[in-house]
Amino acid sequence: MVCMENNKQLCYENKVILAPMVRINTLPMRLLALDYGADIVFTEELIDHRLIRCCRKENDTLQSVDFIDKSDATIVFRTCSREKPYVVLQIGTSNPERAAKAAKVVEQDVAGIDINMGCPKDFSLKGGMGAALLFHPDKACAILSAVVSAVSIPVTCKIRVLPDVHETVELCKKLAATGIAAIGVHGRTVKERPMHPNRNHFIKAISEALDIPVIANGGSKEIEVYDDIAKFKNITGCSSVMIARTAEKNCSIFKHDSKLELATIIRDYLRHAVDYDNIAPNTKYCIQNMLRNIQETEQGKTFLESTTLQQICDLWKLGDYCRQNQKKMNCLRFEERDVACC
Ligand code: FNR
Repeated sequence: MVCMENNKQLCYENKVILAPMVRINTLPMRLLALDYGADIVFTEELIDHRLIRCCRKENDTLQSVDFIDKSDATIVFRTCSREKPYVVLQIGTSNPERAAKAAKVVEQDVAGIDINMGCPKDFSLKGGMGAALLFHPDKACAILSAVVSAVSIPVTCKIRVLPDVHETVELCKKLAATGIAAIGVHGRTVKERPMHPNRNHFIKAISEALDIPVIANGGSKEIEVYDDIAKFKNITGCSSVMIARTAEKNCSIFKHDSKLELATIIRDYLRHAVDYDNIAPNTKYCIQNMLRNIQETEQGKTFLESTTLQQICDLWKLGDYCRQNQKKMNCLRFEERDVACC
């Protein structure tokens, strides 16, 4: 697929992207990344079975669109109009029909669909999803072809590299021939961990061999300031860069000028969490991943004891902001009967 920015289709060329991260990339983090300058934001991986079970509900109180699992009333995916032109939903799948069905569920509310072909976790591998697909190229291609045919928005996939560079390039050529708009490449094999060097030369070889944009990933260790993004892009010869861990710790990496202090980032993050009624455990988890060692401080210890959004906001002097918002929303919170209408 040709990049068609003027046709309002998402274009993957020359972009700085928030990479998919389970539990981290819920709506508040995606909006924060966009605030700070990210061009495209990925969701966390969402499993096809779960998406298929969802009903779509426009939430008038929050001005969001919610995808709610009918079996347990949990919100699987919350999105809003502001992120619609930039958000790519990543699907975990092992089956072409299911993948296409899941993509159809969210098609009208996202800018792109990505298929996870890089997750090395047991859960994914045993289910034939994530990196398992790297070893079943025919199935991987069947999934991509099915999704490309099913939806009218661009489809991509995100892979890890194979141990051999030529085999990796051959695999990428096959995947690209399905009509995908771009390919994200994490330069580590399934067995390699973050302490292993990223195989930037593999990514470069792929980028030279393909006609579609290649999105370089795996460079967080070397990306500390904004200018490092361009260095990573040059080394890998890629059109775009995708950042996970550096953004998880400090989302202001997307700012062109300079990074912000952690307290400012947390306050900016919390405002989005309050505005979109993000659940407290997820909000806490994301802040914990920003704070890291700072959790040893007095404020950090009090934070660890917090269980509500209000308590977390109080710690960062956003108590009144939270109270006022929650009061406004309280009477309209999601209730059982809403599921019944799905
Ligand atoms: C990830 N990663 C990941 N990848 C993916 O395709 N789908 C996902 O849901 C996740 N989840 C996830 C959670 C967390 C907490 C981390 C740290 C990572 C992998 C991620 O997108 C990326 O490929 C790697 O982290 C390498 O890129 P960086 O961190 O070097 O920029």
